[in-house]
Amino acid sequence: MDFSLSSEQKEYQELALKFAKNEMIPNAAKFDESGEFPKEIFEKAWQAGLLNTCVPVEYGGAGFSNLDAVLIGECLAYGCMGMNSSMMANDLALLPIVIAGTAEQKKKFLTPFTEKFLLASFCLTEPENGSDAAGIKTSIVDKGDHYEVNGNKMWITNGGYADLYVVYGTKDASLKNKGISCVVVPKGTAGIEIGKKEDKLGHRASDTRAITFNKVKVPKENLLGKEGEGWQIAMKTLDHSRPLVAASAVGGAQRAMDLAVKYALERKQFGKSISEFQAVQFMLAEMGMRTEASRMLVYQAAWMADQKIRNTKVASIAKAMASDGLMQTATDAVQIYGGYGYSKEYPIEKIFRDAKLLQIYEGTSQIQRMVIARELLRSN
Ligand code: CAA
Repeated sequence: MDFSLSSEQKEYQELALKFAKNEMIPNAAKFDESGEFPKEIFEKAWQAGLLNTCVPVEYGGAGFSNLDAVLIGECLAYGCMGMNSSMMANDLALLPIVIAGTAEQKKKFLTPFTEKFLLASFCLTEPENGSDAAGIKTSIVDKGDHYEVNGNKMWITNGGYADLYVVYGTKDASLKNKGISCVVVPKGTAGIEIGKKEDKLGHRASDTRAITFNKVKVPKENLLGKEGEGWQIAMKTLDHSRPLVAASAVGGAQRAMDLAVKYALERKQFGKSISEFQAVQFMLAEMGMRTEASRMLVYQAAWMADQKIRNTKVASIAKAMASDGLMQTATDAVQIYGGYGYSKEYPIEKIFRDAKLLQIYEGTSQIQRMVIARELLRSN
């Protein structure tokens, strides 16, 4: 087994980390405070080739593997997990097109993302259906020459800025997962109603909104896969995107740990550096153990996706381990900072707030455990 990265992978990593340090870290507190959307920073990331990692070469993309994407995502999250949410959301929304689109659909919907800076939204979650994704009520109904979409979506990342929406709906909610289809809805289509920006605890730089689809007419050629295949498309997408979220958690944890180490070395109490106290050292050691173990799981989950090996279980293990690990690491990092950790003058309280969402979105830590248990039971 070879753990070394290729020279290209090291180059992307270096590029993404440089971007995080030069463009994201210096601006993170400002956008967190104001809640404004840092579109210019995202546009710069696009210019640097750090967005839309899933777009294949044939459609103008860089042809990054899932492993390449997690290497980049970890570095961007090191800069700011909130900004990285918006950046990752593009991949989450484009992946269903990569997975299930025809060559024509890929050319039509993916290529524009490589020609100019555009944003996309993945619309699965609804006000009453988050964890229970098969229970969605938004309808996608065949009206002869087009589909009509009606329903409410919730917690949609990039919702207010998206140039296209990938929307899941059902022809009959009683069919549960078997009735779900997935369509691409371009921005500006009549009947798309964009809700107010959510005022959130963390990830304040990412744009999160409710989106209502009110008698939205969608051309038949915008259906991804066949009618009723939407669920499989969503599940396969999550198998690819959960390693990206887990990578974001690893990047956030690495940043929290780096800050905690630096502070522990600088801070003096009882006449010596607090890094000399075993209580502090053990917290740092646990951070190192969690972060390194999570990183290995992320690489494994991404590598499996690249080898086209079903990675559902490992992707969920990586997502749960990395996000729960991040929450603990961020909590301990605040503890090491003491009172200063609770102040907005230091970057650690933002990481603590941002960390919480990683245990919630793209499947809560509890849903990941449900998936892991089902996969374990299924294979026996
Ligand atoms: N690949 C292929 N097939 C899969 C699959 C996978 N990964 N996972 C499940 N399936 C299949 C099952 O084998 C089953 O097939 P059969 O009907 O033929 O038996 C079928 O799908 C239904 O599966 P389940 O019985 O497991 O379905 P369920 O309804 O009980 O629960 C769940 C499934 C895994 C809990 C799912 O609802 C889930 O993942 N929930 C969380 C949703 C989520 O992650 N949402 C995040 C939205 S994105 C986001 O956060 C927004 C953002 O902007 C960041």
